Amino acid sequence: MIGKLNHVAIAVPDLEAATATYRDILGADVSAPQDVPEHGVTVVFVNLPNTKVELLYPLGENSPIAPFLAKNTSGGIHHVCYEVESIIAARDKLVASGARVLGDGNPKIGAHGKPVLFLHPKDFCGTLVELEQV
Ligand code: CO
Repeated sequence: MIGKLNHVAIAVPDLEAATATYRDILGADVSAPQDVPEHGVTVVFVNLPNTKVELLYPLGENSPIAPFLAKNTSGGIHHVCYEVESIIAARDKLVASGARVLGDGNPKIGAHGKPVLFLHPKDFCGTLVELEQV
């Protein structure tokens, strides 16, 4: 069901420093910061030849990544995102298998303007999983 790895998201406590690390030390192509208010994050995209890394920084009072950064003060891998052809078909199959979809169970529009869903980390090897319809 899942297809390509779309991105790995890394929550960071200092977005400028993290961007400089990827740009200047690792030599990667990085985007300008982009606010995604509906997900409570500011994102910098690190464009790699085969996938992307997203550097996530909290935006607003109730950012969903704030508790993660409180626990992981140097930052850390927050989620992985896999591509699916149909997010509704994927969701229905997962729910039927007993997996938990976060939030109200309906897709939201993600940072790339495409529908996304998040799956409970306890159901997926301790890793928060995002699905994105492509
Ligand atoms: Co993501």
